[in-house]
This record gives sequence, structure tokens and C-alpha cells, in this order.
Amino acid sequence: MIWCLFPPLLFTVTVSSGSPTVQWEMLAPRQVNGTERNTAILPCSFSHPTQDTYTGQIRVLWKKDHPWTTEPFFQCSLTNSTGAAGDECSRYVAAGRFFLSGDPRHRDLSLLVKDLRLNDSGVYFCRVELDQVLESYQSKAGTKLSVTAPAHIVSLSQMPFPDNSTLECVAVGSPPPKVTWFSSSKGLVQAVDKNNPQDPPYTIRSSIHIFSQEVYTCQAENTLGSQVRVFPPRKGPKPLTVWLSVLVGLVLLAGVVAALLWMKRGGASLKVDIRSFKNRGRQKTGASDTNGDQELVYADIDHSPNPNAYTVPSHGMQNDIIYSDVN
Ligand SMILES: *[C@@H]1O[C@H](CO)[C@@H](O)[C@H](O)[C@H]1NC(C)=O
Ligand SMILES: *[C@@H]1O[C@H](CO)[C@@H](O)[C@H](O)[C@H]1NC(C)=O
Ligand SMILES: *[C@@H]1O[C@H](CO)[C@@H](O)[C@H](O)[C@H]1NC(C)=O
Ligand SMILES: *[C@@H]1O[C@H](CO)[C@@H](O)[C@H](O)[C@H]1NC(C)=O
Repeated sequence: MIWCLFPPLLFTVTVSSGSPTVQWEMLAPRQVNGTERNTAILPCSFSHPTQDTYTGQIRVLWKKDHPWTTEPFFQCSLTNSTGAAGDECSRYVAAGRFFLSGDPRHRDLSLLVKDLRLNDSGVYFCRVELDQVLESYQSKAGTKLSVTAPAHIVSLSQMPFPDNSTLECVAVGSPPPKVTWFSSSKGLVQAVDKNNPQDPPYTIRSSIHIFSQEVYTCQAENTLGSQVRVFPPRKGPKPLTVWLSVLVGLVLLAGVVAALLWMKRGGASLKVDIRSFKNRGRQKTGASDTNGDQELVYADIDHSPNPNAYTVPSHGMQNDIIYSDVN
């Protein structure tokens, strides 16, 4: 069924790109979603009337949020002929994180954004300028990049003004987090959410009135995750805990040293005589070495048509194969 759909599709594409009536057109999706610290691609491709013969300069530009007024944050240019000098675009990186992922010579201006941040959210406009024909074109609607992040707490601190009795919790996340407070004696605490005009939209500032001798917990939560922080901050480990940790550490270290020594002994007494494996199998068994110490070896079993029995070999026997555990 699917096979039947392809020939007409290919036919249409060939006809339109081969025809001399190609229009200026820019193709970019309306929305792209990404997650904080991940990578996103903003696709953008174009067609233009002289695309079959064009060999001039191609200038690639990307703008954010304001399509006509702002300076592009990304711009590079190259010539549309193979082997031509002056290809800035293949090595160009803006702000350390923005790269071209498409080939402008193939009319692909797609942008790759690494290590996404919440404030990368916004509308992106791709633009191309072909200087030989003095033509330029820019995506009209742009592509909305929406970066999501699980809720996390940026700070939980006492406000020194006027008198340290206000505790403020600053949380970020996208979707915007919901902040909830608990106190050790009263449970849920009513809070005041403040809006600081300088804050980006995904920041929540929430504060409560506090009393000493109480422990307060701030919880920030959105659909992608949650985090809690406690005030006053939990003290470091007690001295007894530290001593116990040191003791456990020493015991573990002694164990590791003992194991290493044991393995070294086993390795030194290794004696392997490799013969044919044909018709032979192995069986784990115990054997004594010359010192009379017990160690693990593999007995060699002959499965050939005339197997009388098998012998547990010792290191002294010439014709048997001994497999010691090799570490
Ligand atoms: C991006 O996220 C929005 C809202 O969360 C959703 O409606 C849309 O379908 C998503 N778009 C893509 C391309 O995943
Ligand atoms: C660059 O040249 C190739 C053919 O050599 C052509 O297919 C392509 O459309 C040209 N690119 C642009 C942006 O015109
Ligand atoms: C965006 O956020 C990052 C930290 O996540 C910060 O370093 C950067 O300055 C912010 N950029 C803008 C334009 O606010
Ligand atoms: C607020 O607390 C800080 C440190 O906890 C202290 O240095 C400062 O004197 C306090 N200010 C008031 C007004 O109590």
C-alpha cells in the first residue's frame, strides 16, 4: 500500500523543483519543544526562483523574538560552489551553543541549539540573503521554541530587611512551578507569591513569615518534577557518624587489600598447558597445590568415543590441562 503512494509523490517533487516557476518560500515549523540541557533543532529550508543556477553568496541569519528590529544573534555566509573559499558557516558557532545543522548550499538553514536553557524559549526567525540577486527572505511567523524544565529551587534564604523574619524561596521551572510551604509545628503555611518584574516568567518568588525554633520546608513542583529544601539548613554529620564512617572505610580497605593479595597468590601459581579442545569439556573441581593449599581448578574431561574416566590433575602432571582461575 505504502509503495503505491511513492511514485506520484516523487513525480510531483521533481516537476516542481525542475520547473522555472519556483517561488520564494521559507519552510519552518510553528513550534519546537525542547528540554533544559538537551539539544534542539530549529528546522528551516527555502526555495528561490534561481535556485538551479545560483552560484553566488548565501548569507544565513537567525533572529530571536523581534523579526525586523533586532540584530541577528547568528550570521555567517558562504559561496554556493563546491571548493569555493570563504565558507564561514561550517565552523560558525554563536554564543558557544548555536550551530548550523543544515547545509545552506542545499537551501537548508536549520539551526542546532546545544545545552538548552530556559531563557532560550522564544520565537526564532531564519533569514537568507542572496547578494548576487540582492534578494532576501525571512520566515514570517517564525518558530516558537519552548524549553521545559523540572521545578527546582534556586534559593531559600532569610531576608535581612527589616528583621530577618521573612523567608524567601525562589523556584524556577517550566511549566511554572507551584511553591508550597510546611512548618514543623503547623504543617501547611500560607505564603505570599511576589512578582519581581526583572524575573523571567518561569521564576516564582514565594515568602513566609517565620519564627525561630521552627523548621520550614519549601517545596517547588511542576508536572516534570519537584524539589524540597529545608530551613534552617540541616547541620553536617555528627562526630559519632563521622567516626563510624571512618571505621567502616578502614574495614573495607583491609578487605580489598586482602582480596588483592589472595588474587596475586593465585596468579603467581598459574600454570596452564593448553592442548587440543577437541572432544573435551571442563569441570570445576578442587585440587591441592604443592604446598597442600586447596585451590580451584578445572578438570579436563575427554568426551571422545573412548572416555574411560577423568582424572583430577595436579600441577605436576604433564599431559593434563589445568585451568586455574585467572583474574
Ligand atoms: C510542544 O508542546 C506543546 C504544549 O506542551 C504541544 O501542544 C505541542 O504539540 C508540542 N509540539 C511538538 C512538535 O511536540
Ligand atoms: C547551490 O547550487 C546547487 C547546484 O549546484 C543548487 O542545487 C542549489 O539550489 C544552490 N543553492 C542555492 C541556495 O541556490
Ligand atoms: C539565560 O540564562 C542563563 C543561565 O541559565 C544566563 O547565564 C544568561 O545570562 C541568560 N541570558 C539572558 C539573555 O538572560
Ligand atoms: C539577620 O541574620 C544575620 C545572619 O543570620 C545577622 O548577621 C543579622 O544581624 C540579622 N539581622 C537582624 C536585623 O536581625
